[in-house]
Amino acid sequence: MGAEYVFDTGSDLGRQQVDCLAEMLDGTTTGVLDGLGVRSGWRCLELGARNGSIAGWLARRTGSAGTVAAVDLDTSHVVADPNVEVHRHDLNDGLPLEGPFDLIHSRLVLMHLSRREEILDSLVDALAPGGWLVLGDLTDRLPLAASARDVADEELFERVIETGMNRVGRPAGMNLEWARDTGRHMARSGLEDIHSVEYRFTAYGGTPGLLYYRSMLAQVGHLLLKAGISEGELRRFDELMTDPRFSAWSYQFVFTWGRRQKT
Ligand SMILES: C[S@@+](CC[C@H](N)C(=O)[O-])C[C@H]1O[C@@H](n2cnc3c(N)ncnc32)[C@H](O)[C@@H]1O
Repeated sequence: MGAEYVFDTGSDLGRQQVDCLAEMLDGTTTGVLDGLGVRSGWRCLELGARNGSIAGWLARRTGSAGTVAAVDLDTSHVVADPNVEVHRHDLNDGLPLEGPFDLIHSRLVLMHLSRREEILDSLVDALAPGGWLVLGDLTDRLPLAASARDVADEELFERVIETGMNRVGRPAGMNLEWARDTGRHMARSGLEDIHSVEYRFTAYGGTPGLLYYRSMLAQVGHLLLKAGISEGELRRFDELMTDPRFSAWSYQFVFTWGRRQKT
């Protein structure tokens, strides 16, 4: 179990990948959570917590009257916080603690798990009346190069990214349709007041937006080679991801939230 997650979270590259994610996305995520009115006393669950940046934010918001539990397959990188209870656990085996929760948040996790619909249902069941479920994942929209000195570099970037998404990610179980369908699944599970926002941006080489691609694709370099990308192309891709003269679009991230009926 859990083996369906294709990246090695415990490795240095895996750590860089999710540290970049936190830098890229925490502002958007906390903006959504802020809008839901997270406050003192809430009981919160953060799934796939990784370095714990969102769990820490929740703990500061909910204070000593609230509780925050952070769950991940690999908890070795969760930054210690006295107000966050950490659980090393595989979500395929259910939740490691009982609800009800005022808030359950999970970013870039369910798209990797084949039992995502069943897991979503169990999360809805674990919500308190009026509690919120917030999910974020990425779509199949192909990120394009934004500016490069050479059109060949633009084409290379787009080919490597497309190969990574469709010929490495998908066969490894990444579902790139889930992000757009999340709201529909939430509605089917009985949630209401469902909303989504999309987020994507451009980034220069050497900044988290492109260092994210670099650390992620380096972990699956052997699979990219098998899928037809050459060693020279991988090296050039790696150079571009640190080149401040090159810029490209991020993936398209979709954040969706819905609320359990109040009574
Ligand atoms: C792409 S990372 C996202 C990390 C963090 N949520 C973020 O957005 O920055 C996916 C995280 O989910 C965790 N994960 C993957 N499969 C899991 C499972 N079956 N049970 C619990 N955690 C899992 C990984 O260890 C990793 O920390």
